[in-house]
Amino acid sequence: MKAIIFDLDGVVVDTAKYHYLAWRKLAGELGFEFDISNNERLKGVSRMESLSIVLETGGMKGFTEEEKKELADRKNKYYLQMIRDIDESEILPGIPEFIAGLKERNYKIALGSASKSGRMILEKLKLAGLFDAIVDGNLVERAKPDPQVFVTAAELLKIPCESCIVVEDAEAGIEAARAGGMHSIGVGSKELLKEADIIVESTAELTGLMEALPLYRKN
Ligand code: BG6
Ligand code: MG
Repeated sequence: MKAIIFDLDGVVVDTAKYHYLAWRKLAGELGFEFDISNNERLKGVSRMESLSIVLETGGMKGFTEEEKKELADRKNKYYLQMIRDIDESEILPGIPEFIAGLKERNYKIALGSASKSGRMILEKLKLAGLFDAIVDGNLVERAKPDPQVFVTAAELLKIPCESCIVVEDAEAGIEAARAGGMHSIGVGSKELLKEADIIVESTAELTGLMEALPLYRKN
């Protein structure tokens, strides 16, 4: 393994809760409650697909494409307001140590996120400079479980897909890693992420896995 590709929301930073709160606010305005039990389905999927899921849970139909675009833009506006002041304190436990250890071992690291705010968030967290490649929702057309986001990251790193490990908290993300011929580490529930090669409950456990990774010479 020579590269680690990180998902963003729910792996590097706890932004999944802000996505949820922004959708919940939108749902409230449309007159229904978006329950946390449906939130898992939104993880890793694109903004427009998330909107379809949210509307479906509220039993809402018949919106034109233009109206859907307005709703998605409104949710994004709420989300951007919520993350306006995000900083290093919201990086998930163990992530800085894991990244530092990977760098020492000469692993390449990349971001593979569905979010159009991916690069901006990494910059706010002061992590962007550590990443050898950043692929976010602005660079890809097909959302996870399509592997495009991870395959693009591997191409930018010039590392073959089979030498990459993806770290993901979403079922759609693990499916995407597998579809791209990559290895995967799932962070979260053993039941939901059962297709991952390794599952940890929290990002704090990632540094423990690193001990088993080989060292590479530079270049
Ligand atoms: C993913 C999140 O990382 O990005 C999804 O898990 C989100 O919940 C998706 O919908 C798209 O994000 P954005 O910021 O482009 O709306
Ligand atoms: Mg995620």
